[in-house]
Amino acid sequence: MMDSIRLHDKKFKLFIPAHQIHKAIDALADQMNRELKEEELPLFLSVLNGAFMFTADLVRKMDFDLELSFIKLTSYRGTQSTGKVQEVIGLHTPIEGRTVVIVEDIIDTGETLVKLMDTLQKQNPKQIRICSLLLKPDQYKKSIPLDYVALKIPNAFIVGYGLDYDALGRELPDIYVIEP
Ligand code: IMP
Ligand code: MG
Repeated sequence: MMDSIRLHDKKFKLFIPAHQIHKAIDALADQMNRELKEEELPLFLSVLNGAFMFTADLVRKMDFDLELSFIKLTSYRGTQSTGKVQEVIGLHTPIEGRTVVIVEDIIDTGETLVKLMDTLQKQNPKQIRICSLLLKPDQYKKSIPLDYVALKIPNAFIVGYGLDYDALGRELPDIYVIEP
């Protein structure tokens, strides 16, 4: 594991090592296993690209049957949210009457989440639960309750474990934070 890395023009330092990420996911998985086991075949909707690694680790720890599908919906360019959220693509499974679990990498402003919730609610699911590896609580001002959050972090730009800085860093097993 490296203590610091460089991606494009920026330097990052180690922030959350892999073992700590996995410990947080274990605790989250326990909670989800308890709270979702009675639901009839929940549909996990993983938000690409960022949530791919978290999703792969999380679903392997679920001890009930589930369906897994991937959608895409991006709002980020560089290290600042553009505030412009694009369309939801890849939602081909009907969700009416079903329990849907959104699986996100990180919730920052929550703009992405609001857009996604609007789109999904139109199809009358039974319920939508939100699951995110990371949350920036100081940034999140929306009223949508976040059911399952593994780690809360300060408002700083991070990469690794699925998250990128202009397409780089997604493959890193640890999470790094940008150096000022
Ligand atoms: P929001 O719409 O502002 O909540 O932003 C959510 C999306 O922006 C996430 O799903 C990520 O893809 C991306 N994002 C937010 N914060 C970071 C970060 O610190 N590093 C990398 N991507 C981020
Ligand atoms: Mg994302």
